[in-house]
Amino acid sequence: MDLTGKVAVVTGSGRGLGLAYAQELARRGAAVVVNDVDADVAQAAVESISGSGGTAVAEVVPVGTSEAAQALVDRAVGEFGRLDVLVNNAGILRDTTLWKMTDEQFDAVITTHLRGTFTCTRAAAIRMREQGEGGRVIAIGSPTGQVGNFGQTNYAAAKAGIVGMVRTWAMELARAQITVNAVVPVAATAMTETVPFLEPYVTALKNGDPLPPYARKQLGFGSAQDVAGLVAFLASDEAAGITGQAIGVGGDRLALWTHPTETVVEFADGTGWSAEAIAEVWGQRFEGSKQTVGQQFEPES
Ligand SMILES: NC(=O)c1ccc[n+]([C@@H]2O[C@H](COP(=O)([O-])OP(=O)(O)OC[C@H]3O[C@@H](n4cnc5c(N)ncnc54)[C@H](O)[C@@H]3O)[C@@H](O)[C@H]2O)c1
Repeated sequence: MDLTGKVAVVTGSGRGLGLAYAQELARRGAAVVVNDVDADVAQAAVESISGSGGTAVAEVVPVGTSEAAQALVDRAVGEFGRLDVLVNNAGILRDTTLWKMTDEQFDAVITTHLRGTFTCTRAAAIRMREQGEGGRVIAIGSPTGQVGNFGQTNYAAAKAGIVGMVRTWAMELARAQITVNAVVPVAATAMTETVPFLEPYVTALKNGDPLPPYARKQLGFGSAQDVAGLVAFLASDEAAGITGQAIGVGGDRLALWTHPTETVVEFADGTGWSAEAIAEVWGQRFEGSKQTVGQQFEPES
């Protein structure tokens, strides 16, 4: 799956998953604009790519504003002449329960993830439509956005919103042959280091020990490199027919998420639904199909 001749922007690619994406795209021949707020890690990422024979430059700017988005597109075009792939990966966490969450914590997460994905994709879509040769937009969701998670109001809103935008953009950009998909990753990075139930596996990976099949398969947990193959696939010509999807990946697990869909439907006889009528039908028809919230893992056998 050769990406030679393609130009990619990967936001937040100084470390973690973004770094793995940038390295994998470059390894397959793409020229990459590495982006991060942290200049040192961005520079180190460029050096690691160049050191392996790849092509990369760093654009240090905090994703979120229109100006930052334009700077990234301009850098790709100025340096490499075009833009083919955008990976909206930059992200932060400001976790706390609803009743303790400040406006600042809410806004910081929404600005980086949701507004960053919006502004970068808008700037990239304008450029890709001008080029007239299609393109690839890859946005990053999270299990939290799909099903909710304790202590992550801001992050759940941002990640659910991103997948909502992906569905809409897949429709809007189809004619321009720009595909738009969400990757829903899980991997050992600074972001997951503090998640208590992942702690033994994070430690194992740090020590270079293999992870048990339960972690790699049921939890879908592994290294950042385990996730990068999906991004390279979606960036490639092979994935031209795939758009509007949310695809989960982590460890040895690869999964296609459903979009929200009606699961039980009943009809009233021209009278609409009164509270009493709903109470009557609920127990027979809906109660047994109530949806779970939060991630549900199979127990370790
Ligand atoms: N690690 C996981 O298991 C996991 C799971 C679901 C989703 N994600 C998502 O994957 C993405 C990457 O996460 P990660 O685990 O690699 O995190 P990470 O913290 O290891 O790396 C994120 C990088 O983004 C950079 N960054 C932060 N704000 C930025 C901004 N405004 N502009 C540019 N760069 C910025 C950081 O400096 C850092 O280098 C995020 O969108 C995250 O929400 C990760």
